Amino acid sequence: RLIFILNGPNLNLLGKRQPEIYGHETLADVERDCATLAAELGVDIRFLQSNHEGQLIDWIHEARDAAAGIVINPAAFTHTSVALLDALKTFDGPVIEVHISNVHQREGFRHHSYVSLRADGVIAGCGTEGYRLGLRRVASLTAD
Ligand code: DQA
Repeated sequence: RLIFILNGPNLNLLGKRQPEIYGHETLADVERDCATLAAELGVDIRFLQSNHEGQLIDWIHEARDAAAGIVINPAAFTHTSVALLDALKTFDGPVIEVHISNVHQREGFRHHSYVSLRADGVIAGCGTEGYRLGLRRVASLTAD
C-alpha cells in the first residue's frame, strides 16, 4: 500500500532554517530515513514538499484514489488553512499530523491547528523522528 508524506512551506529549507528549532537534518535526510522504514514496514511512500497551498490540496485530491493514508507536516498552513482542512476531509484513510517542533511550547498562534480537526493523531516536538512515528502509525492503521 502507498502512503503519502506531505510537507508544507519552508520545509525545503530544513537543516538551514532556524536549526536551533528544527535541527540540522535536511528534508532529503528525512525522506531517506522514511524510505528505509517504509521498506521495513512493507509499504510504499510518496514523499512530497510544496510551498504552495494549492499544490498540497491537489496532492491530497490525488491521494483519494492513490493512497491508503497520509502523513502531513502542513507547516505554517497548519495554523491558517481551512482549505487544507477541507481537502483532508475528502480523504477517507488515516491522517497523521506531524510537527518537528513542540508547537505548544511556542507562540500562541501555533497552538491552534485547523488540520487537527481532521487528523486521527498528532505528533509534535519529537524532531524529525516524528515523521517515522507518523509513518508507523499510518502503516498500522492501514494493515490488513
Ligand atoms: C512546523 C511548526 C509550524 O508552526 C511552522 O510554521 C513550521 C514547521 C514544525 O514542523 O514544527 O513551518 O510545522
